[in-house]
Amino acid sequence: MIFKFTPQISQNTVHIHSIPGDKSISHRAIMIASLADNTSEFTGFLFSDDCLNTLLIFQQLGVPISIDKDRNLVSVHGVGLRGLKPADSTLDVGNSGTGIRLITGILAMQHFESTISGDHSIQQRPMKRIVDPLRSMGAIILGTESDDIYPPLTISASQHVTPISYSLPMASAQVKSCLLFAGLFLKGTTTITQPAICRDHTEIMLTAYQANLKTHNNQIAITGPSYLHNPFSQPITIPADFSSASFFIVLGLIHPNITITLSKIGINPTRSKLLDVLIAMGADITLSNQIMEIEPYADITVRSSSLTNITVDESLIPIIIDEIPILAVAGMFATGTMTISGAKELRYKESDRIKQIVHLVQSFQGHIQEHDDGFMLTGGVSPTTPVIDTAFDHRIAMSAIIASLASGCPITLDTIDCIKTSFPNFFDIIKGLG
Ligand code: S3P
Repeated sequence: MIFKFTPQISQNTVHIHSIPGDKSISHRAIMIASLADNTSEFTGFLFSDDCLNTLLIFQQLGVPISIDKDRNLVSVHGVGLRGLKPADSTLDVGNSGTGIRLITGILAMQHFESTISGDHSIQQRPMKRIVDPLRSMGAIILGTESDDIYPPLTISASQHVTPISYSLPMASAQVKSCLLFAGLFLKGTTTITQPAICRDHTEIMLTAYQANLKTHNNQIAITGPSYLHNPFSQPITIPADFSSASFFIVLGLIHPNITITLSKIGINPTRSKLLDVLIAMGADITLSNQIMEIEPYADITVRSSSLTNITVDESLIPIIIDEIPILAVAGMFATGTMTISGAKELRYKESDRIKQIVHLVQSFQGHIQEHDDGFMLTGGVSPTTPVIDTAFDHRIAMSAIIASLASGCPITLDTIDCIKTSFPNFFDIIKGLG
């Protein structure tokens, strides 16, 4: 449904305590705790469409999971490595690429058949990147095959599955995690080499759950069968999602007169490198109250800053990949030229994000040149009333709203429903800005 947004901010000192839980960690929490031989409790779970779909899928696979919304607790009563049961219908991940890719790694090693799919966008997302290595482990997977392999995926029981050594063709945490999950079940060592560091939440949580996993430089080895056990008697904290926080981090920097503090934001170094990029652009950012549990988190304070665009180092792209749409918005309000290259993976996200970023910047009368693997953007926006095609991509929709708040330009979006996939209380926080 078409949504018209009129920007208004009256506060100039804002403390945001309600950035929701980390999406990547929430997915992994359900998956790993389901395979453990005991119960896990989590605080800070992300109650968004994507993560709730993962939770429902594991319930369908026979895992008792309960939600206590008042205490913000999710309890997962793990069924053990061999305890999943066949579901009686197709498993539906909704819009979640993480959901389908990671869960397929687990399903591929079961003694029963499953079918997994999702919404229209998921049915157009490439799965060859997981299906090829899983097939070389002996898994039996059928999908819609054309230039790539697309969901629905039907995964049959295979009697002959074995570990592999595999070099990832792209730095993808989803592919890496899929194969680590498969490796959990296999007798012997599965070794994965990544071309560059990408988010490591799977390695961190599997290690916390006592998996037999070793990391050395860019190589991760898991030796199975690796039984999982939650050693913590207290609930495990899922920090607030850095990628969700990044919308308000950038807003605080590009708005002419505001200070924003965000509480308890995950600062895992494989996720929070956007801070370094923004600091290199001249951003005023401070971290306080740093805490280390399974994952580190801290309070982040940002103040209005004069930003200068830079050429972003290609080696950072895999670990800032989800923040590139909002980084482009920062670039619109900075002086000089921002260059992003080596980022072709953006084309395979919830939408073709290079195309949608170009559309967004141009809708604000900004200057941007599209490249096959990125873009070149020169700062500057003019007063206008943009009409945004979100391509049902949550990060594009939220980036457009932040650009509207910073520029004062009222905007129209084709839909805001997609925002629920990762950030259900986004507009509550916007209202809190006045
Ligand atoms: C994710 C990994 C990234 C990221 C996605 C979440 C994860 O995808 O873009 O939003 O939780 O593993 P890729 O692994 O495909 O780069």
